[in-house]
Amino acid sequence: MAGLIDVAQGLDVETLRKDFPLLAQEVNGHPITYLDSAASSQRPRQVLDAMREYDETTHANVHRGVYGIAEEATHRFEAARVAVGRFIGAPNPSREILFSKNATEGLNLVANTWGRTHLHPGDSILLTEMEHHANIVPWQMLAEERELSIRWIPIDDDGALILDDLERLVDGVKLVGITCMSNVLGTLNPIGDIARVAHAAGAVVVADGAQSVPHLPTDVSTLGCDFLAFSAHKMLGPTGIGVLWGRDELLTPLPPFLGGGEMILDVRKEGFTPNDLPWRFEAGTPPITEAIGLGAAVEYLQAIGMESIRAHEIALTTYAMNTLAERFGDDIRIFGPKDPIQRGGVLSFAYRDIHPHDVSQILDQYGVCVRAGHHCAKPLMRRLGVNATARASFALYNNESDVDTLANALAETGAFFG
Ligand code: ALA
Repeated sequence: MAGLIDVAQGLDVETLRKDFPLLAQEVNGHPITYLDSAASSQRPRQVLDAMREYDETTHANVHRGVYGIAEEATHRFEAARVAVGRFIGAPNPSREILFSKNATEGLNLVANTWGRTHLHPGDSILLTEMEHHANIVPWQMLAEERELSIRWIPIDDDGALILDDLERLVDGVKLVGITCMSNVLGTLNPIGDIARVAHAAGAVVVADGAQSVPHLPTDVSTLGCDFLAFSAHKMLGPTGIGVLWGRDELLTPLPPFLGGGEMILDVRKEGFTPNDLPWRFEAGTPPITEAIGLGAAVEYLQAIGMESIRAHEIALTTYAMNTLAERFGDDIRIFGPKDPIQRGGVLSFAYRDIHPHDVSQILDQYGVCVRAGHHCAKPLMRRLGVNATARASFALYNNESDVDTLANALAETGAFFG
């Protein structure tokens, strides 16, 4: 860590930023203002260094060689698994943390293993209108194959789930798929409350933690869901690795997802015997360097403290919502909950009638990076009555100056379009 973090004073963002080499770049002659961490966050030197040090000194395949560096690589890979498990409060990290390619693959794993084992023609599953495609399409694929029906929890005009009818909606449902935090609206969903009702109805709960785990304290021992998927690249880690946590008792009886090396105890001409948890679900050589990077990212986040990160992001989101409302009034529509406590640091907006892609391109001229598009949430876009939004999203390295730069660049965008 570049400097001491004074929790009482909030994060020392100026010091933290020095850990992130990319944030020292200029874009189009302006210092970069990176506001797209919901798509992919930047990596601190500590993560980049950990990966390079591993690659330069220790790299070998894991769980195979009995020579020194191979054993050390295996040790570090499994230590990263345990570190990630502790980070989310997993009761049994060395069995319940499965490394996947990303959150999407983790959710597909649940659909293809738990889903194929437990869902049969006529069964129902329940999703929400604010899900990312990653927590919709795997279920639609299975629904088509297995003749399942899909029900939806609707949202209100403020972007909150309408839960008044939850008991009726969940009645007879075998699985509930829900995002912890919307990547478009920022809405934080009451996973525990929903899980209680779902469990009482006999359903399991699959949570998409891609947006929440990087920004909020997470404890799966109390969260309420049965599976939780997330990605390293949104939490200061590398691309190419994600995590699926599942309850031991649910994972243990499941068949493998992908077949190949590593996921077997024995293979004969007549068939195979699957490996134990977690390797049964990790066919082939896993993302080893990436696991080392994820372990370093978790260490970095823990050293700062997730409570401090959350407090910083609430303050920054409050500042951003107030600034944009004061500067642009009715010209800007910010989607999602009005209360920053009810949301994460994701601000999707419509600015006048300027297309979000145009907004994003003009902002880029001022070094401001925001995502524009449907954000892989087309059912939600339809519910909101838009084709696309522009979206600014924050991480621990953003500050009020980034928000001011966004607001100034938006004013220039407005002037450009007259
Ligand atoms: N799911 C990522 C996002 O919301 C890519 O941008």
